[in-house]
Amino acid sequence: MINVIIRKWTKEDFPDVQNVLRKSWNDAYKFIPQEDLDFYLNKTYSLYELEKIFSSENIICYVAIIENKICGWLKLTINKDENKFYLSSIYILPEFQNYKIGSKFFDIAIQEATNNSFDEIYIGVMNKNEIALNWYKKLGFEFFKEEPFQMGNTVVNHFIGRKKL
Ligand SMILES: CC(C)(COP(=O)(O)OP(=O)(O)OC[C@H]1O[C@@H](n2cnc3c(N)ncnc32)[C@H](O)[C@@H]1OP(=O)(O)O)[C@@H](O)C(=O)NCCC(=O)NCCS
Repeated sequence: MINVIIRKWTKEDFPDVQNVLRKSWNDAYKFIPQEDLDFYLNKTYSLYELEKIFSSENIICYVAIIENKICGWLKLTINKDENKFYLSSIYILPEFQNYKIGSKFFDIAIQEATNNSFDEIYIGVMNKNEIALNWYKKLGFEFFKEEPFQMGNTVVNHFIGRKKL
């Protein structure tokens, strides 16, 4: 059994969160050219953007830690306009996948959704990301919509899913 600590993130975690994103994207999004991944990562998750995410009252983030190493990041977003609760990012470093860290993050997402009076969780997942798609299906998500999603110069389709709590 590995001991996983899950806690809310701090500003000191930003570089480690970028590391989790870079490595897990390179592994999971092999169907997207490297330059597009790098462009999107630098644009969306620069230290400046992470600071904005950190300060947002509608975004809740957690990190997972094993032996002092940050190996996962969870981002939950309350979309006030849509009145919906999104599990907007969940990324585990490749070498730490399949150890139920994602499942622990999902339990936290349910808790946070419930605490914020939501009875549904929404997600978006690229249709070519079969591992994640199947993982969400096993957790009980139903996919009901497909939308384009742009990463740099590449457009990939995204399935939108929801699960009733
Ligand atoms: C999808 C993800 C969040 C799941 O978290 P996890 O901690 O690895 O998953 P868990 O250990 O809780 O669950 C295990 C299940 O995940 C799936 N899985 C996870 N990693 C896998 C891998 N590398 N290969 C095949 N299946 C994998 C399996 O279906 C497994 O099912 P099983 O328990 O019946 O064998 C994680 O693998 C990940 O970060 N993937 C890369 C990034 C990504 O795609 N994020 C989602 C973006 S929408």
